Amino acid sequence: MKYSFIALIFVAFLAFTISQNAVDDKGKKIVCYYANWSPTRAGTAKFTPQNIDPFLCTHLIYAFASFAEGKIVAGDPEQDINNNGFVDFNDLKKVNEKLKTMLSIGGWAEGSAKFSRIASKADRRDRFAQSVVELLRQYNFDGINIDWQYPTFRDGSRPEDRENFVELVKTLRESFDNEAQLTTKPRMLVTMTLPAEKEYIEQGYDLINLQKYIDFFSIVSYDYHLSVEPSINHHAPLYPLPQEIEADMNVGLNADATVEYLLSRGIMKEKLNLGIPTYGRTFKLENSEEHQFGAASKGQGDTGKTNREVGYIPYYEICKKILDEKWTVVQVNTSALGPYAYKGEDWVAYDDENIARTKAEYVRKKGLNGIMFWTIDNDDFRGDCGNRSFPVIKAARDGLRGIPPIRNRVENRPKIPRVGEDPFIGKTTEPPRRQTERITESTNNEPIANGINPTVNSVPTIKQFFLTLPTQKPTQIARVKNSDGDSYYQTISIWIQNNIINFK
Ligand SMILES: *[C@@H]1O[C@H](CO)[C@@H](O)[C@H](O)[C@H]1NC(C)=O
Ligand SMILES: *[C@@H]1O[C@H](CO)[C@@H](O)[C@H](O)[C@H]1NC(C)=O
Repeated sequence: MKYSFIALIFVAFLAFTISQNAVDDKGKKIVCYYANWSPTRAGTAKFTPQNIDPFLCTHLIYAFASFAEGKIVAGDPEQDINNNGFVDFNDLKKVNEKLKTMLSIGGWAEGSAKFSRIASKADRRDRFAQSVVELLRQYNFDGINIDWQYPTFRDGSRPEDRENFVELVKTLRESFDNEAQLTTKPRMLVTMTLPAEKEYIEQGYDLINLQKYIDFFSIVSYDYHLSVEPSINHHAPLYPLPQEIEADMNVGLNADATVEYLLSRGIMKEKLNLGIPTYGRTFKLENSEEHQFGAASKGQGDTGKTNREVGYIPYYEICKKILDEKWTVVQVNTSALGPYAYKGEDWVAYDDENIARTKAEYVRKKGLNGIMFWTIDNDDFRGDCGNRSFPVIKAARDGLRGIPPIRNRVENRPKIPRVGEDPFIGKTTEPPRRQTERITESTNNEPIANGINPTVNSVPTIKQFFLTLPTQKPTQIARVKNSDGDSYYQTISIWIQNNIINFK
């Protein structure tokens, strides 16, 4: 038998569960940012590259690198180099060979000046591009993500940034092309982040020319409203509310408006990813009775317990506030935007599983390239609030693939197969065997699940897997196929009781 017996059961069982629904995410991107300051969060909020599920996203972006003397350098040498951030991040590809990793340079704190200076002259661009090739290859990244906030804006920018930015991106792309030819390695990717604000785009981004060299763009389709504003609002609506349309309010401040605008400016839909936040924006209500959109705010809300950004809390804290501190959740319109939650004068707007899914379904219907998350480390990565880890990203991923909400799937779940029973075709394929026999029969070359390359050293075998069970409910990743032969990875739990394999 080519694949282990247990792997077959995984695959067959999951195929059965999911085959009722079309799964066609062919080529759709799931791009997840990782913030290199998350390893410094306290206690269980600490998140390192080793906390990343290597099968969750198709592309991971490490944020942020920085500049020194016109070259790209690690943004936080302590985390990135000394603590092995870069190495551990790229080692995730030993587990999932299809995963692509990128290094992002820029971000709000970086500002505009250094980008502007480097982009302004050919020799500076060349020197920078050369340093990018060297650093990315040294640490085994697959590409660069440019997050210049923003060309022609903020201190140190210049009016020529718009044209110079195209030249910079072109230089990077040509350097990557040349390097790929010389080394015969796959060409590295050139990607960038786009602001949602029209004025930044109009003035700073020559979209048509940028797109010649860019593999894909990810839109920052969140932070349409910030907590410094005098009235409260949701930072990441997909559509405007009907009453806003009527009152001519918040015009253009929603993801759909941004997508339509970018498409109207000639961006190819196949190159566009929609950004989804895994965090909330917090406010202090002027009057705790007045918590609806548009109500007066006294200012930014509390900083989360585990992060250090005022007016911002990660989803893993929001869901705990709702569960443990009994915050009230208000859904104003589940097809237009995420909920808000409040308690006393504290207020937060965020994207829950439902709206994350809805946004991904929008991407699917529109034929866009995929979805992007800021950030993977802000999701409920431990699964503290529900039945699965990374619930927001997984809900969106399901939406992208046309898989219905998990609750529906639970109801449709077939009976748990016994060892030796193939639930897919409903007949016994192998006589039942004892669990201990199966363990001793495993060899070191046996993959834990169909599709994971057994030649990669770090993939545990079935034997290692069972011998190292931390609890009776380990989580495992299996490749799943539907009846059309499409496949993808899914995290499942497995436990053994009375010689019966149980799945969830
Ligand atoms: C919810 O928002 C959507 C999108 O803007 C709109 O089409 C729909 O009519 C709204 N539903 C209600 C009940 O207001
Ligand atoms: C977890 O799954 C159970 C069924 O297995 C369901 O009843 C429950 O509502 C789920 N919890 C959440 C938070 O989704």
